[in-house]
Amino acid sequence: MPTQQPASPQVAHSPFVADIQAIRERARKHIEEGAITDSYTAERETVIRLLNEALATELVCVLRYKRHYFMAKGLMADAIKAEFLEHANDEQAHADRIAERIVQLGGEPDMNPAVLASRSHAEYVEGHDLRDMVKEDLVAERIAIDSYRAIIDYIGDRDTTTKRMMEDILAQEEEHADELADMLAGWTGENA
Ligand SMILES: [Fe+2]
Ligand SMILES: [Fe+2]
Repeated sequence: MPTQQPASPQVAHSPFVADIQAIRERARKHIEEGAITDSYTAERETVIRLLNEALATELVCVLRYKRHYFMAKGLMADAIKAEFLEHANDEQAHADRIAERIVQLGGEPDMNPAVLASRSHAEYVEGHDLRDMVKEDLVAERIAIDSYRAIIDYIGDRDTTTKRMMEDILAQEEEHADELADMLAGWTGENA
């Protein structure tokens, strides 16, 4: 198979071909870095740290929603329980996506339970009654929304894969917040 020399006059007239060759060479040189190539311009350590904070946030949210799911009682409990469980599953799926991306970036997902709560942006609040639980969940979603938006702004276009993933997750947190806000607004049950 004939190989093109990057320095040949023929190639020098074609910057696109030269670029492709340079890209291929770099890809081979850093093959051990997996998905991360030289064109990755974000500060990788910072992105991994931010993603680990988002991961902690998601895992704390899973635990809080699960606790609320099991503890919910009262007249409106059935419908709201289903919502809590659905959100818990969504947050788990978010956590999994984030952990996978951390590994792709050459980092390690930190799931150490001893430090999860301190790295999480959102808090673990048990809530006294059903309405209180919904309110605490809404607060947590709003915190996640703000901090994910900040992460997306920081990453910008330097890591479009991570940015796209976080935008996706952010959109779902907005849906969660919307559903919780609707529940609070339409509250009628005293036995909550
Ligand atoms: Fe989430
Ligand atoms: Fe959420």
